[in-house]
Amino acid sequence: MTGTSPARPVSRRRLLTGGALAAGGALSGAAAVTALRADDADVRTARAEPVARIGAAVEPFHGPRQAGVATEAQAHAAFVAFTLRPGTDRAALGRMLRLLSDDAARLTQGRPALADTEPELGLLPARLTVTFGFGPGLYTAAGVDDRRPPSVADLPAFPVDRLQTRWSGGDLLLQICADDPLTVAHAQRVLVKDSRPFATVRWVQQGFRRAAGAEPGHTQRNLFGQLDGTANPRPGGPLDTAVWVPDGPDWLRDSTTLVVRRISMDMETWDLLGRTDRELAVGRRLDTGAPLTGTDEHDEPDFAAVGPTGLTVIPDFAHLTRARVGEDRLRILRRPYNYDGVPAADGTADSGLVFASYQADIARQFLPIQRRLAEQDLLNEWTTPIGSAVFAIPPGCPEGGWVGQQLLA
Ligand code: HEM
Repeated sequence: MTGTSPARPVSRRRLLTGGALAAGGALSGAAAVTALRADDADVRTARAEPVARIGAAVEPFHGPRQAGVATEAQAHAAFVAFTLRPGTDRAALGRMLRLLSDDAARLTQGRPALADTEPELGLLPARLTVTFGFGPGLYTAAGVDDRRPPSVADLPAFPVDRLQTRWSGGDLLLQICADDPLTVAHAQRVLVKDSRPFATVRWVQQGFRRAAGAEPGHTQRNLFGQLDGTANPRPGGPLDTAVWVPDGPDWLRDSTTLVVRRISMDMETWDLLGRTDRELAVGRRLDTGAPLTGTDEHDEPDFAAVGPTGLTVIPDFAHLTRARVGEDRLRILRRPYNYDGVPAADGTADSGLVFASYQADIARQFLPIQRRLAEQDLLNEWTTPIGSAVFAIPPGCPEGGWVGQQLLA
């Protein structure tokens, strides 16, 4: 109940502006808090987006590039990887991708899928994007191995890896992101049902960030409490050259690649670490995200600066130092989601990152960074890769087309 009385109905506007408090008297706790806070000038300026706008917001599905890469990260994600059934050949793949593209085109625009069994759940897209990824096995099944971007292949083994098959590999990926978890769940259900004749589910990794509108314009935080995403390339600059393939045949142009790594984060031992050591491990401050040599999140780190002890202020083995990339065209776009599973009976956390990295070429961009990190990175003490998968993200499709058409038609 939100205090609507037959005599004086409480409008959504009055609820949000606080006028309903006096009128209603029977507001629920949550609504009352909203109403009270709306009177506070400081809070008002930073207030979240109205819920209705978040639910109705739409991201385009059609276009030369797929959505869900450069798209500002939504609050919720499900990465769904499939294994193709034996017999899913080029023609069958075409039928599947046509069907799934149609589902995605409708759901992302707030329209139920064809024969949607829960059509009401298709009405609030909440910036839903469905991004298709092709694993190495899809090219083989379609008989087009010669069209596979060469860097889309299993990664070499790294000494830090403790990979589990249940989080690794996959012939097809659907990355489903939206600002509403119910929208993600519904889209996942529709897409999994429609892929059934062609493929089986291999793994699903769900993740989250801050709720939509909770902290607009801020870099997200991971479960270690760090600002995560500060040094990402921005649209219009390096993002365009580092992430998207600029030319080539039409199944490559405007494509990108995705590396998904499930990285568990040891909250128990991280808890034991003092704040200074936590900041040294990454090379950035926990509160502002500023490099240890600066004051603002986006200050350039000074790796040569030396402290009173004679050591560099940012340690040589800090994550920041080791992950640093000098050249714009070699950078990667990180779009990670937090995961937080069920703790063990003794309370040990099951937390980490669904680390998602996009780059034009995995071998040229991702691998050198990953090699450096696997070799030396203070953060390795508290993080362990437990899953790994690679996908080509083919170009987008125009209205009436389907994702993968350039490759398979
Ligand atoms: C659980 C694992 C990881 C955690 C908690 C983590 C955390 C962070 C944090 C806090 C930053 C600094 C802020 C920022 O720029 O985002 C950062 C930067 C970065 N990380 Fe990671 N990271 C992880 C894994 C990885 C992996 C696997 C890679 C790539 C192989 C990677 C590549 C980078 C890059 C390229 C930067 C930017 C460095 C620069 O300033 O140029 N990270 N990471």
